[in-house]
Amino acid sequence: MLIDGHGRKVDYLRISLTERCNFRCQYCMPEKPFSWVPKENLLSFEELFLFVKVAIDEGVTKIRLTGGEPLLREGIATFIKMISDYKPDIDLALTTNGYLLGSMAQSLKDAGLKRINISLDSLKVEVAAKIANKDVLGKVIEGIEKAIEVGLNVKLNMVPLKNINEDEIIDILEYAMSKNVKVRFIEYMENRHANAELRGMHGREIISHILKKYDIKAIGREGASPSFNYRVLENGYEFGMIDPHKHDFCESCNRIRLTAEGHLIPCLYFDEAMSISEAIKAKDIKKASEILGEVLKNKPKENRWSEDDENLSTRAFYHTGG
Ligand code: 5AD
Ligand code: SF4
Repeated sequence: MLIDGHGRKVDYLRISLTERCNFRCQYCMPEKPFSWVPKENLLSFEELFLFVKVAIDEGVTKIRLTGGEPLLREGIATFIKMISDYKPDIDLALTTNGYLLGSMAQSLKDAGLKRINISLDSLKVEVAAKIANKDVLGKVIEGIEKAIEVGLNVKLNMVPLKNINEDEIIDILEYAMSKNVKVRFIEYMENRHANAELRGMHGREIISHILKKYDIKAIGREGASPSFNYRVLENGYEFGMIDPHKHDFCESCNRIRLTAEGHLIPCLYFDEAMSISEAIKAKDIKKASEILGEVLKNKPKENRWSEDDENLSTRAFYHTGG
């Protein structure tokens, strides 16, 4: 079992397969970064798998593949199958912008993927295009519907932004209700890579929009999930709120992150990362396991998220995977 320096059980590994993306979301990557990690620095799927086996053997029971946009990484279905064959009961999930999902959902499901989170920030063509800097809505909706159709467990993510999509909070809630999938509203997390003009919304502001139309009841956090759940009283539908600005957000944190070039990251921040790349390339499994232990020992008690401009996080979501 993996236990961190603060006594928290860590059983959840998030792997960012690429920092590249076919969207330029304003809250994440409004312009193409000055440079990408060179392709030759990326760990191959075979190399990533060596670490995945270590992590599973030591107690990881849940793996999420993220990006950038993970579906841009060629051969992803094969990687999913490698993991799923190694441990068929693993909770295997993926986070995507949905653009390529229409044509890929079936093969991902066949390879062993169980759950998928898809970003949906607007149901208006122009607003979706403004947020992602690209005309995306048609393909994203097609992707969501296909994922549901092939039997993946789908969740939707919305990041409400002041004066951009805040008037669509109810619309997105009702869209998710109509599809019988869960939606999670995510507080915008300030960071230096985002469009500096953006203003996010706090969980309580998002809830006050919903209260204009629906009576809801707070249910609470589900295990180690970062999502605080609510129930709509009239029909029992449940949705979630991801509110990292709240002080108790980190108490039950159970996760670590691995980037495509082999940085093992203990927390939302990048600073304390250690590289497993050398050990993995040398197939030194013992060393990789030692580094994992070291990273866990140093996992911070809580994130140091800051909204003030001076201390904005330099962390790039597209690099460490949301
Ligand atoms: N704040 C909040 N959520 C973000 N995401 C990306 N950048 C941010 C940010 N700055 C979320 C998106 C997407 C997931 C990949 O990460 O909602 O669903
Ligand atoms: Fe791409 Fe996701 Fe970042 Fe949008 S939020 S630019 S889809 S990585």
